Amino acid sequence: MSSKPDRTEPITVAAVDAAGLQDEALAALAGASTLAELTELRTRYLGRRSELKQALREVRDRETGMTLNAVRERLEQAFAERETQLEREQLEERLTADGFDVTLPGEELRIGTLHPTTQIRRIVEDAFLGLGYEIRDDREVETVEYNFDKLAFAPTHPTRSPRDTLFLDENTLLRTETSPSQIHQLEEHEPPVYMVSIGRVYRRDDIDATHYPIFHQFEGLAVDRGITLADLKGTLLRVARVLFGDDRRVRFRTHFFPFTEPSIEPDVSCGICGGAGCRTCKFTGWTEFGGAGMVDPAVFENVGLDPEKWTGFAFGCGLERGAQLRFNIAEVRPLWSPDLRVLRQF
Ligand code: DAH
Repeated sequence: MSSKPDRTEPITVAAVDAAGLQDEALAALAGASTLAELTELRTRYLGRRSELKQALREVRDRETGMTLNAVRERLEQAFAERETQLEREQLEERLTADGFDVTLPGEELRIGTLHPTTQIRRIVEDAFLGLGYEIRDDREVETVEYNFDKLAFAPTHPTRSPRDTLFLDENTLLRTETSPSQIHQLEEHEPPVYMVSIGRVYRRDDIDATHYPIFHQFEGLAVDRGITLADLKGTLLRVARVLFGDDRRVRFRTHFFPFTEPSIEPDVSCGICGGAGCRTCKFTGWTEFGGAGMVDPAVFENVGLDPEKWTGFAFGCGLERGAQLRFNIAEVRPLWSPDLRVLRQF
């Protein structure tokens, strides 16, 4: 070492092995496993009092300055990279430990829809409330008297058999139709009466494409003076229009029910084949939508009303059938299935 330093060869530079320093710092960096260790190393290698910074302060020639600056830049970049890496690792660890990753997309919220049967129920309620009817609800456990006797079912009528009807005991059963509501209504209220009763009914049917042992009906009853079959047809037509739209055809067939005389059955043109005939409408182009008729004088007598004074009509239709007809659902089973693929479409 000369006593008089040469201006072109500053002593400080000789004291710093830039490449060696860089290697050392990078090796230390690679070994750092926590952010705290990293901070410590950053102070040691890049801090104000680090060898590198001191050398940079004292550097005199351009070339050495450039070399040292390159090392500084390289180290700063390496520290930043390692920091990002360690932060990510730490986050990862925390997320695994917490078991909750806030960066994942949220769970999709499925907006449900009302069951088709419920939709029909509400449309029917609205339609009849609009016509001035009252809505009632009756019990599902009925007596033989109200389910059959007062509705003028003959003692030998096959529906009275336990093969068709679910009995709880000899006199008690699960109602097979909503028609007992007619009797309850007329026993509780003096006519004029305009009511619709909606609810579940039960039959001992095997499950197939068109049958299910539980289903829903809406039962209508209008009792007043001078009511005619034309009023009944007009009312049913109106309900069919509200439920199925204007482009569906409606027809009435004659039929028999113990509690109406005459009796009719409304059919609605099949919406699946447009009336051409398909499996669902059993190749007729029509689907039966319920039963109806003029209240039988025997029913009036059974509730203590004078059939000479009062006239009325009644009807009963299935809500599931209504849903099938409105939404063109080929079978009744999906309406009761826990597999929601069909139901989700409506
Ligand atoms: N109760 C009948 C059924 O379940 C439907 C019915 C027919 C209801 C005629 C009525 C009626 O009120 O008048 O098949």
